[in-house]
Amino acid sequence: MFDFDEPIDRRNTHSLKWDLMEERHGVSADNGIAMWVADMDFRPPPSVTEALRGEVAQGVHGYYGDDRAYKAAITGWMARRHGWEVDPAAIATTHGIVAGFAICLQAFTEPGDGVILFSPVYHAFYRVIRANRREVVESPLVRREDGRYAMDLAALGAALTGRERLVVLCSPHNPGGRVWSREELGALADFCAAHDLLLVSDEIHHDLVMPGYRHVPMPLAAPGVVDRLVMLTATTKTFNLAGALTGNVIIPDAALRRRFGEAHVASGTSPNRFGALVATAAYAGGDAWLDALNIYLAGNAAILVEGLSAIPGVRPMPLDATYLAWADFAGTGMTPEEFTARVERDAGIAPSHGTTFGAGGESFLRFNIATQRARVAEAVRRLGAAFADLQ
Ligand SMILES: Cc1ncc(COP(=O)(O)O)c(C=O)c1O
Repeated sequence: MFDFDEPIDRRNTHSLKWDLMEERHGVSADNGIAMWVADMDFRPPPSVTEALRGEVAQGVHGYYGDDRAYKAAITGWMARRHGWEVDPAAIATTHGIVAGFAICLQAFTEPGDGVILFSPVYHAFYRVIRANRREVVESPLVRREDGRYAMDLAALGAALTGRERLVVLCSPHNPGGRVWSREELGALADFCAAHDLLLVSDEIHHDLVMPGYRHVPMPLAAPGVVDRLVMLTATTKTFNLAGALTGNVIIPDAALRRRFGEAHVASGTSPNRFGALVATAAYAGGDAWLDALNIYLAGNAAILVEGLSAIPGVRPMPLDATYLAWADFAGTGMTPEEFTARVERDAGIAPSHGTTFGAGGESFLRFNIATQRARVAEAVRRLGAAFADLQ
């Protein structure tokens, strides 16, 4: 029903991933493969394109106001797909999740306060925390025997100084592709209660879960945590609408919501009409598209993980969720400069550099597999050739 194999050329479309690849990675878009920025090389569900066509036909693009359909689409999706009942009054709309996170910092913390990140983790958290003059407190993830990441709450507890105010969880985890278990989420919730920490759960990747895995929303894993919980969700990863920069900040607790509301007003922003329209259309009509997408992504992930595993010394993490494959090159014995040069210069592939994800990411590269399968297969062929001397 949906043809994810259809070749799509994104060059010269103002794309960050394709049109700035040469500038940022030295990989020419003429024959390079862009596997860095976390967006997909697919069109969104047809319901989104139809909604945009309707907006063009209607022709007047004034301020967005009546958001009842938008809120109903969000609450419907969360109930239907995640078993999570959301109060429409708990939803605030921001210009994306990173912007929503920045407003959280301003609402709930002071300059100099500590903000805990489980590293390595999505790089924008670092940038926003530091730009707001708060302190990043890294809690390094540890690797389990099965190769997956786990939180080390005992070590984190022992290292607390009392200046920490807020914990950020990325669930599912980017990078690393972990779907956290109910038990792990419950343990983190208990930890936050024991140390009086606010919990921000960024669940932007929650719909991109491989067949056989199940994401558990934080309020379902730990109902007791809702009085200290901020949930971040969006349609933008799920349906490839990143350019719409529209996200949801969902705060069940009324007092926390008031504090967020004040900081939100102080930011001077209000909802973006186009973002709300595409988000509504995606949630209303995107179920079948998403189910097909997840099956397609699982096929791509299998190809890349197998290809990387075949290179001596390279260890990809199992990918349970997200379309971002995280691979450790430590076993090649090469420096990050050496293995990155082989991937970028020799293979003509632009991945995300592990160093940008903080402590523990140094020996890794992250590969975005949300592209046409033929391109993933070609990437695997090129990687094999670039490291052929290790065989
Ligand atoms: C964990 C996480 N949060 C947020 C974002 C981006 O959110 P937005 O584009 O809504 O600011 C990303 C994008 O990769 C992400 O991985």
